[in-house]
Amino acid sequence: MATMKAVRIHEFGNVDVLKYEDIERPEPQVGEVLVQVRAVGINPVDFVSRKIPIPGITAGNLPYILGWDIAGSVVALGEGVTQFRIGDEVYGMPRFPGEAGAYSEYITSPVADLALKPQRLTHQEAAGIPLAALTAWQALFDTAHLQAGQTVFISGGAGGVGHYAIQLAKWKGAQVITTTSTRNVEFVRDLGADIVIDYTRQASIDSIKDVDVVLDTIGGDVLKDSFEVVKRGGSIVSLPGHLGVKALGDQLAPQYGVDFAVIFVHPSGEQMAEMTKLANAGQLKTHLDGVFPLKDVAEAHKLSESRHVRGKLVLTLE
Ligand SMILES: NC(=O)c1ccc[n+]([C@@H]2O[C@H](COP(=O)([O-])OP(=O)(O)OC[C@H]3O[C@@H](n4cnc5c(N)ncnc54)[C@H](OP(=O)(O)O)[C@@H]3O)[C@@H](O)[C@H]2O)c1
Repeated sequence: MATMKAVRIHEFGNVDVLKYEDIERPEPQVGEVLVQVRAVGINPVDFVSRKIPIPGITAGNLPYILGWDIAGSVVALGEGVTQFRIGDEVYGMPRFPGEAGAYSEYITSPVADLALKPQRLTHQEAAGIPLAALTAWQALFDTAHLQAGQTVFISGGAGGVGHYAIQLAKWKGAQVITTTSTRNVEFVRDLGADIVIDYTRQASIDSIKDVDVVLDTIGGDVLKDSFEVVKRGGSIVSLPGHLGVKALGDQLAPQYGVDFAVIFVHPSGEQMAEMTKLANAGQLKTHLDGVFPLKDVAEAHKLSESRHVRGKLVLTLE
């Protein structure tokens, strides 16, 4: 039996439940490839799914290999696979919100959930993209239908989703307003943000009016205030699955005449391929805030839980 290293949990809990173990290497099934993982992107859903069951990962999945975002090399093909060849470098977030098993040396993935990795990016930079950038893409373009010349307010512009959302909105030709703490003001300006509000110095965002689209990555009072800045007929797309976000948005949307949606990201090799083109053209970059060996994943989780990561944290297997 071929084995591999992986980080699994046998129960939900704090970082102590993360176990670096030898387990059986998976085999690609029909329509799947086997990927040797070079880097893994960390997202807030990783620590949430370590602590509690989420849609797609329940007690029935235990022991469960955490994580979704990977970049790596195709090392074996399942039956019927023609889209990729052995040796291709790929990236994606297979099967989300079902188990992908990203925190491991090898994973299998349906081919539809992968795209060729941007040659211009390292594996570590590429591994940051899938979940966060797909979320930004699906929120801005599939749900809010952001157009060139429109204005978008992105709360939390320095985070994983926010820093890709700024770049995607600028590529689309929109004007971008965003919020960060003081230490990230220059960072989001360099990404292309046109107006930056330092939320530690200016508690209210009521100086902003009549934006077309809001991408809310924070929830709570930030979502509530977003209804004051969006114009009638505009859109608010919210991401956090907590803090009564959906109930609050559903209550306020009719009063303000605004379209409101909470979205849940889904895998898309096609959209990843679009992002590969942007990254190769230098229009989509990853800021790496920290890189950790797979066995030190607990350190990455602690930082992610601080909610003040700039860009992305990744794990390396090289
Ligand atoms: N529904 C979905 O499918 C989906 C998909 C992806 C993510 N999400 C959710 O979306 C949220 C964002 O995800 P993420 O990956 O971007 O998280 P993240 O990388 O952990 O975001 C951290 C960023 O949030 C900023 N921040 C914290 N408090 C803020 C505030 N009050 N105002 C403005 N910025 C603030 C921080 O900037 P400062 O350090 O400058 O404060 C930091 O850069 C999370 O709740 C995540 O679970 C949902």
